Amino acid sequence: MQRPGISGIGCAVPEKRLTNEELSKLVDTSDEWITTRTGIQERRVLGPDEDPAWLGVAAAKQAIKAAGLKPKDIDALITATNVSEMLIPGSSPFICEGLKIEKEIPFFDLIAGCTGFVYAAKVAADMVAAESYENVLVVGLEALSRFINWKDRATCVLFGDGAGAAVIRPMPDGRGVLASSLAADSSKWDLLRIEAGGIKHPASHKTVDGDMHYLVMEGGGVFKSAVTMMEVTTEKCLAQAGLTKEDVDWIVPHQANMRIITALAKRMDFPMEKVIVNVDRYANTSTASIPIALTEAVADGRIQPGQVIVITAFGAGVTYGAMVLRW
Ligand code: ACO
Repeated sequence: MQRPGISGIGCAVPEKRLTNEELSKLVDTSDEWITTRTGIQERRVLGPDEDPAWLGVAAAKQAIKAAGLKPKDIDALITATNVSEMLIPGSSPFICEGLKIEKEIPFFDLIAGCTGFVYAAKVAADMVAAESYENVLVVGLEALSRFINWKDRATCVLFGDGAGAAVIRPMPDGRGVLASSLAADSSKWDLLRIEAGGIKHPASHKTVDGDMHYLVMEGGGVFKSAVTMMEVTTEKCLAQAGLTKEDVDWIVPHQANMRIITALAKRMDFPMEKVIVNVDRYANTSTASIPIALTEAVADGRIQPGQVIVITAFGAGVTYGAMVLRW
């Protein structure tokens, strides 16, 4: 039996770079504070007139090409995102339209915080394993800059915009998904939130005046939960695959913050040289962070076919999860 796996990967980020220096002119912060606390040096942000969906389309085109396919070969689309193009109908129809898929395929958006890409990859892999669909496109698309309070130094330094995409299809030679683990803890839902704009607090003068449309975060709580939960889910996933950390060639963690990533590696006693990191250049791009990191590591030759790769993430909800793949 051929396992489902990632057969093509791609990414796209906005051209506009926002450096720590530039940010320190907007809020009371400094390059030194941001670099030492987060490892972030710059992030990419969409301009006010740029349409986020084009990022998803560009990433998807690259992933489809890398898989040796054409858009018309895609059988289903899952867009992992936290803040979609429109509340209704989400982001997927706009990505589908931009790809000119030329046939009707099922698509849907999936909300699972920053773990969205791992969740969507698992759903896609199960769809392929069930032989319901052959080529499932997963897009992680995020434009959190549109929901950041640019006056709140505690959050505005942390996030960036971007998209990543993967084509999940049956893979040859024992490659593909070896194990996956999804989990969530609802008691921690308030660690990371945008309170208004949904059905509980629809947009009103009160929600706008009360800054309720912005992302807010309990930084310390996020930090502790992120490290322990990513460790737990990664270990569980490796055990399921019958592997140990010594078998792993690369861990590609959600790029939230350099200190979270190094704390995870330390707790797992895993060498940092085998952890893919690009948070310094893109900050936290939420559902896009893992596919962007994977795309770069494949492009520069670090990730090679046959290697054992772990992706692991943590996000709002709170959700967490991991996947072990033979690339
Ligand atoms: N620049 C300068 N000073 C700042 C900034 C800033 N950008 N932000 C906060 N401070 C100040 C605070 O006001 C505080 O000042 P005070 O002591 O006078 O009150 C001081 O720095 C320390 O603040 P802390 O919040 O204790 O700083 P900490 O060392 O915990 O670092 C951080 C904050 C980086 C947010 C940390 O808690 C963290 O990494 N949390 C994880 C958050 C994260 O990565 N979230 C991503 C989203 S979640 C996800 O992707 C799954």
